[in-house]
Amino acid sequence: MNVQNTPLTGTATHTADATTAEESLAIQEAQAKLDSTFATEVAMQNTLLTPRFYTTDFDELDAIDVSGIRDEWDPLIAEMLADPNKGHFRKTAEWDHVDWDGMEPELKKEFIDFLISSCTAEFSGCVLYKEMKRRGANKEITQLFQLMARDEARHAGFINDALREAGVAVNLGFLTQKKKYTYFRPKFIYYATYLSEKIGYARYITIFRHLQAHPEHRFHPIFKWFEEWCNDEFRHGEAFAMLMKTDPKLTSGVNVLWIKFFLTAVYATMYVRDHQRPAFHKALGVDPDWYAHEVYTKTSKLSEQIFPITLDIDHPRWQRNLERLQRANVQIAEARARGGLSGLVGNLAGSAKAALAFVSLYTIPARKHRVPAVTRLQPSY
Ligand SMILES: [Fe+2]
Ligand SMILES: [Fe+2]
Repeated sequence: MNVQNTPLTGTATHTADATTAEESLAIQEAQAKLDSTFATEVAMQNTLLTPRFYTTDFDELDAIDVSGIRDEWDPLIAEMLADPNKGHFRKTAEWDHVDWDGMEPELKKEFIDFLISSCTAEFSGCVLYKEMKRRGANKEITQLFQLMARDEARHAGFINDALREAGVAVNLGFLTQKKKYTYFRPKFIYYATYLSEKIGYARYITIFRHLQAHPEHRFHPIFKWFEEWCNDEFRHGEAFAMLMKTDPKLTSGVNVLWIKFFLTAVYATMYVRDHQRPAFHKALGVDPDWYAHEVYTKTSKLSEQIFPITLDIDHPRWQRNLERLQRANVQIAEARARGGLSGLVGNLAGSAKAALAFVSLYTIPARKHRVPAVTRLQPSY
């Protein structure tokens, strides 16, 4: 997408007020001269643990017929059209001064990494949703994707505001053009995106509630915005639950094995990634193991709305193999840094251990349950 060629559809000067993703991106393009090479390079990375950009079969998505779920679809779209978070994602008087220079170096490094990774993930959603809206002809589907792209563009813009104070920012226009796109079949997009929206909600609300109870750990003002933020993600998750509901085959038969795969992959990735940021979690006053379990519990409870299985996160093999996976990941990172023959051997050994740990997690028997007739949920945590 070329931002310069996209006409501005509104008059907003801040991404918080933008009503379309295009408008939001045009505003950010104008700020891009400030963006730093460092942050953009980090956002460009494609590893198993970093957020990716996706593309899919847009024609298949465009063929979805929502008439069978009209009762639940229309209220969701109405809620998104009402745009409860318009204007929310901007710095206000609530935005306390951030002492970046006084921040402990390890915390600063991990927190900036967290912000860049979050910004890339938000923007990844924006790019995918915006592309669907652009390519589709189905009025209902394009409308939904336009609304979700609008939200994600604001989220990414707000994180970039926070990063700019630290002297770094991600060049989103550059990323759109240069970052590698991974192709996923639509059903994999549904599983992966549904889960990332719901786990995003669970992550943000868990941090928000924890900091409500322990404000002394709120070392940056952006956390104050997490409650309304995660309500956007909650609605996006609802939308993907609706899309899956239009075709019962997506959540039955052999596809249940795919659902289990995505649940395991998304949970395991979160565990490994969070354990790479010990100083960040210490500053928040959060034990990453407690946090992971809390987020999995909430996400599993929510995903019962559409998935016929949940993972048995209390199984004795669960925690043990998450830890094995995490140690294997450290071994791989150290081997890569070392390089040479010993690095290669270490990398292979670490990868084999990681694969075994993943298989052990994947083969834990899942919990089965009946999926409710009514899918829609409201945020309740
Ligand atoms: Fe978002
Ligand atoms: Fe989202």
